[in-house]
Amino acid sequence: MTILAVEDLCKDFGGVHAIQGLSFQVRAGSIHSIIGPNGAGKTTLFNLITGLYAPSRGRIAFLDEPIAGQPPHRLAGMGLLRTFQNLQVFDTMTATENVMVGRHLHILRGLVPSLLRLPGIVRSDRDARERSLQLLDFVGLSAYADMPAGAMPYGALKRLEIARALAGEPKLLLLDEPAAGCNATETKEIDTLIQRVAAAGITVVLVEHDMSLVMGISDHILVLDYGRKLAEGTAAQIRANPAVIEAYLGTEGADAVPLAADAG
Ligand SMILES: Nc1ncnc2c1ncn2[C@@H]1O[C@H](COP(=O)(O)OP(=O)(O)O)[C@@H](O)[C@H]1O
Ligand SMILES: [Mg+2]
Repeated sequence: MTILAVEDLCKDFGGVHAIQGLSFQVRAGSIHSIIGPNGAGKTTLFNLITGLYAPSRGRIAFLDEPIAGQPPHRLAGMGLLRTFQNLQVFDTMTATENVMVGRHLHILRGLVPSLLRLPGIVRSDRDARERSLQLLDFVGLSAYADMPAGAMPYGALKRLEIARALAGEPKLLLLDEPAAGCNATETKEIDTLIQRVAAAGITVVLVEHDMSLVMGISDHILVLDYGRKLAEGTAAQIRANPAVIEAYLGTEGADAVPLAADAG
């Protein structure tokens, strides 16, 4: 089953064609990675899918429903959630409170149809805290529950952001460079966490520069170059693809696994 379908998508910024005639599909339950050099259009694609940008042209369907141009909160309510390339945590709030922000947004979306049921709102705060603690446990951050985010290590904050997105009960979770800036240990923790998320039945679309992470966990990989599809396939197919090797992996070829020519 296809959970996300992108068809002939284009996004221009003045004369910059950030996404150009892009089509691809994401299978429900998969880990689908999007790679490509800096400036290839990966973040722009996420911004289009999550409603931050309206496309210049083209169609996006989530669970067979057209969504292009819908506002982010509507899409989040449908189960389409994301993290951002740059950390978006509230430093003075505790880890639990940061996750509760994601939970409250989710609950409020659910409450809007019955806004006058005040007891529901009181109950929702208790439920949000409880669910947030469960999610901190899920991402391995229980020990930080009462710590202000500003005092937490960087790798933990990357997982905290994932917990906050999970608080919105995603069906599809888009992760924009979740391991960026992480050391090897932190990257391994992110790797394990992404696999746990997928095992919980949440489809993951992953943008990431760490090629050993991408190659290790992806069911499918889409390679972008200048806003266009350069190639797609399994990790083995991508490693062996001549166009990918030439444009992206460099002359070192497929065996130079880190493929990390672009570390940005
Ligand atoms: N808001 C914007 N306004 C103008 N140009 C943008 C904007 N966002 C992205 N771009 C341009 O679109 C291209 C793709 O950028 P981006 O999606 O951030 O790439 P990536 O995430 O793959 O590094 C780049 O040339 C970038 O400068
Ligand atoms: Mg980016």
